Amino acid sequence: MSTGGGSRAPVPMPPPVPVIAIDGPTASGKGTIAQRVADALGFHYLDSGALYRVTALAALRAGVATTEAAAVAAVAAALPVAFPGGRIELGGEDVGDAIRAESISEAASIVAAHPAVRAALLDRQRAFRKAPGLVSDGRDMGSVVFPDAVLKVFLTASAEIRAQRRHKQLMEKGLAANLPAILHDLRMRDARDSGRAVAPLQAGAPEAVLDSDGLTIEQVVAIVLERYDLAVRVQASGRSAGAGGSTLQG
Ligand code: CDP
Repeated sequence: MSTGGGSRAPVPMPPPVPVIAIDGPTASGKGTIAQRVADALGFHYLDSGALYRVTALAALRAGVATTEAAAVAAVAAALPVAFPGGRIELGGEDVGDAIRAESISEAASIVAAHPAVRAALLDRQRAFRKAPGLVSDGRDMGSVVFPDAVLKVFLTASAEIRAQRRHKQLMEKGLAANLPAILHDLRMRDARDSGRAVAPLQAGAPEAVLDSDGLTIEQVVAIVLERYDLAVRVQASGRSAGAGGSTLQG
C-alpha cells in the first residue's frame, strides 16, 4: 500500500475506558451493588453521592446555607476532598460517618438541585474514569456524567422495600430508626431528586431498569455482570462490523 502523497488512513482510536453507570433512587442498594461489581471486575468505583454529601457538610460547616446556590457552588469547586484507600476525607479528616447522617442526606439533596453545584462537580467525577474501568453510582451517571457508558443500569425497588432496608441498616448501626418516618423522608427525597429541573433522576431506556424487589445482593450483582458481558460483546461486534477504523463517538 502506498504511503506517499495522498490522504493518510485514519488512526484508529483506542476504545474508551469502560464505564458502568448505576443510577437509582435513594436506598436502592446502588452503593453496595456498584462496589461489588467494581470488585468483581477489578474496576475503580465512584460514589458520586458522597461528593454531594461532602459538599453539603463543608457548606454547613462554613456557615453557608444550602439554598445559596452560588456560595455552595464555590464550596464545591474548592472542596478539599480525597478518597484514600476507600475512605472519604475532607481536608484530611475522615468524614465517612459524618456524611451519612440523615441531616446531611437531606442537605445533600438540596445542594444537588443547584445547577452550579452540579457543574462544579462534573470534572471531578469524570476524573475517576481510569483504566481498566469504572463503576459509578448516583442519579445522573448515565444521563449526564458518563453518557457513553457501555452499560447503564437503573437500579430500583419499591419505596416500602427501600425503607425497610434503610431501617435495617440504621438498626444494625445501633441508631434510632422509625420506619414510617424513613418511608416519608424517602418519598420526599424521591420527589425532589426526580422533580428537579437539572439532571433529574430518570430511568432512561426501559431495558436499563433492574427492579431488585425480591432479589438478593448476589443475584443483583450477577445480573449486572451478565448485562455488562453482553454489552461488551455487542460493542465489540459493532467495532469489528465497522472494520477499517473504530472511531470514538461523543
Ligand atoms: O444513599 P442515597 O442513595 O440516599 O444518597 P446518595 O447516593 O449518597 O446521594 C445523596 C444525594 O445526592 C441524593 O439525594 C441526590 O439528591 C444527590 N445526588 C445527585 O443529585 N446526583 C448524583 N449523581 C448523586 C447524588
